[in-house]
Amino acid sequence: MKFENYILSSWQENAAQWVETIEQTKIPSREFTNPALIDCIKNQIQKSVLEFGFGEGWLGRSLMKEDYSVFGLDGTQALVTAAKQKSDTQNYALATFQKIVNRANSEIQSKTLDQIQIQQFHGAVFNFCLYEKEGISEILKSVSKLISTERKIIIQTIHPKSMLAMELPHRSQWVEDSWQGLNGNFKNGHPWYFRTLEDWLSIFEFSKLQVEKIYEPLGKETDRPVSIIFVLRNASNQ
Ligand SMILES: C[S@@+](CC[C@H](N)C(=O)[O-])C[C@H]1O[C@@H](n2cnc3c(N)ncnc32)[C@H](O)[C@@H]1O
Repeated sequence: MKFENYILSSWQENAAQWVETIEQTKIPSREFTNPALIDCIKNQIQKSVLEFGFGEGWLGRSLMKEDYSVFGLDGTQALVTAAKQKSDTQNYALATFQKIVNRANSEIQSKTLDQIQIQQFHGAVFNFCLYEKEGISEILKSVSKLISTERKIIIQTIHPKSMLAMELPHRSQWVEDSWQGLNGNFKNGHPWYFRTLEDWLSIFEFSKLQVEKIYEPLGKETDRPVSIIFVLRNASNQ
């Protein structure tokens, strides 16, 4: 992943501010995107979830209350520590996306990832954590190997229509600052790659994932979506 170190150093630096932002519900759209994701998971995945890029861990804690077994992997040490402090479990570990890809390609060994594979999770979730232009397909292919076949991968991300709301042209593009529009003392934001729907669908096709369902949660202004949620299924074993 070309910008992984850069992205993760920004998250490490801003981890405490992120924890406060989530604790104080300072991102208004989360009022809609969080329940939409939980509903989607409850409809699509039974019992056990592997969560990637879990932040301070709100999703895992919510799912555990619904009797899910959850394990989380994130590349930011400060957030792994925060999530462990906030949970009754220790089901969170440090792992970057690059490390997950390297292990899937047998370039490295990882006891944590071996144990995860043995557990045969029913599905994997990425909530607002895929930022790079290159390498998303490699991550998704690696995660498909980590969970068992026929399992679902759910991705929630910014809705491609938001480009127009942000007065950007409708094309996939880098956006400068990940913290733009957030209240709080965030510093040194990292760039993130904004994708059109067409480009997301190409990535899924290339990753041999079939789109089973798309959800478009609405916000307070009920004429526009606050995010898009893709439900994907491994299509390579059909
Ligand atoms: C916007 S936060 C989302 C947190 C959480 N999913 C939520 O919904 O609140 C993005 C998360 O992705 C993680 N992340 C970003 N790039 C990553 C990478 N290359 N490897 C592992 N984790 C990464 C960050 O550490 C951060 O926790």
